[in-house]
Amino acid sequence: MDNGDWGPIDGHEVEPLDVLFAKDPGRTERLSLGLGGIWFDWSKLPLDEILVGKFEALAEARGFAATREALFTGGIVNPSEGRPAGHVAERGSGSAEANAAAAATHVRMRALVDAIEAGAFGDVTGVLHIGIGGSALGPDLVIDALGREGSRYDVRILSNIDGQAFEDAVAGLDPHTTLVAAVSKTFTTIETLTNVSAALGWLSDAGVEDPFGRLIAITAAPEAAVEFGVDSTRVLPFAEAVGGRYSLWSTVGFSIALALGWPAFEELLEGASEVDRHFRFADGRANVPLMAAFGDLTITQLLGCETRAVFAYDERLRLLPSYLQQLEMESNGKLVTTDGEPVGRRTAPVTWGGVGTDAQHAVFQLLHQGSVVSPVEFVAVIEHEDGQDDTHHRQLLLNAFAQGAALMTGRTSDDGARAYPGNRPSATILLDRLDPRTLGALLAFYEHRVLANAVLLGINPFDQFGVELGKEMARAIDDPAERDRFDPSTRALIERAGL
Ligand code: F6P
Repeated sequence: MDNGDWGPIDGHEVEPLDVLFAKDPGRTERLSLGLGGIWFDWSKLPLDEILVGKFEALAEARGFAATREALFTGGIVNPSEGRPAGHVAERGSGSAEANAAAAATHVRMRALVDAIEAGAFGDVTGVLHIGIGGSALGPDLVIDALGREGSRYDVRILSNIDGQAFEDAVAGLDPHTTLVAAVSKTFTTIETLTNVSAALGWLSDAGVEDPFGRLIAITAAPEAAVEFGVDSTRVLPFAEAVGGRYSLWSTVGFSIALALGWPAFEELLEGASEVDRHFRFADGRANVPLMAAFGDLTITQLLGCETRAVFAYDERLRLLPSYLQQLEMESNGKLVTTDGEPVGRRTAPVTWGGVGTDAQHAVFQLLHQGSVVSPVEFVAVIEHEDGQDDTHHRQLLLNAFAQGAALMTGRTSDDGARAYPGNRPSATILLDRLDPRTLGALLAFYEHRVLANAVLLGINPFDQFGVELGKEMARAIDDPAERDRFDPSTRALIERAGL
């Protein structure tokens, strides 16, 4: 099949949501599925039985089952880099060999966590986790979401090279009782290495005798960490095949295990592994991540939407939109197929979002009445753990549901300013409760949904060459000998900033 040829899908006539609901009283049941303590409702997306059937045929024609099997058996699913994708092995869902290798790194990680807890590093109250992109966003999200009931250590995540970010991150930390975790898959990332050097300086300025003795490195390039000066006994490796944005399950989750405790980290992996089993063995419309991808592709390919908004109706999940931005846009923001040919269709939409209800009072105007139609994903949790009166949580959930209903039904009015077009698509993801297991399941669902989208689009979600040019030019721009090759606007900016 030619990549641009989606057969009958492209000609599919998308019917308005009210028509789809009127035609099929069983629509909500048919387009909702439960998995791992999470309920998914896609009935407010313009999917219908016929379209789902066409997508199932497309998945088959695209070899979805074979790619999926390759993911779990260590096949090369990242052809541009000639690699498997190792994240599933981190939760015991890969090939026997990859599972064993990942388990061995987890044993080392656990031994270090236990040693810290047993006092091998003296009194430890704080952890400065330094990493960027996939080496920060996952741990940041998980610790922020689950560490509210008193994280065992004060974990600060430092990513930006901005000195202000460094100062904010260390403010209030005691250098004498803080461990520094340098997290970088490549151990070459300039932001991370600059911040690690600053952290060593911060320890030394405070009179810590052996700053390097407080440094732990987490990397797929252990020799680079040792070269940097980290003692090999404090280097926690992970496999090269684990992509940065898929790495929180590996030793990159060290800060998670410290903050939440080892049993919670294991539960996180178990939640993900339940979704792995489902994704591997459920077929067609019964497969939750695949169905979610059918919804995504309906929106982008048939409605022409270029953005997708995710609103966490739960303060604990406030970092979910930024985590998903990297996962989805770095994975599927591509122009070429796995064969290097132009894709010839829209790939990943821009992922954006925020927190409900705040967003309702800021950006929902555009969602309800703007000229751009952006599908919305509501993510909410039925149980709450805050100590407040139930009114808060009840109102929070009801607001999420009301927004979805309002987007879909709209309202007519003779006064154009007060009219709402309606027929605006949304999906709702409802967790029974937020705990390590359901969060692990949710994040694994998002990972597999990205792969399902990629397979149907014919692209490779596991490379990210798009970030390389910017990195290269950021290096060159710092070299006066290279400046001449920059354009006049950029040269003028450098001059104006006195660089
Ligand atoms: O520049 C993008 C990127 O390579 C991401 O893919 C990655 O998660 C991040 O930078 C950090 O890379 P590293 O873990 O190698 O420091």
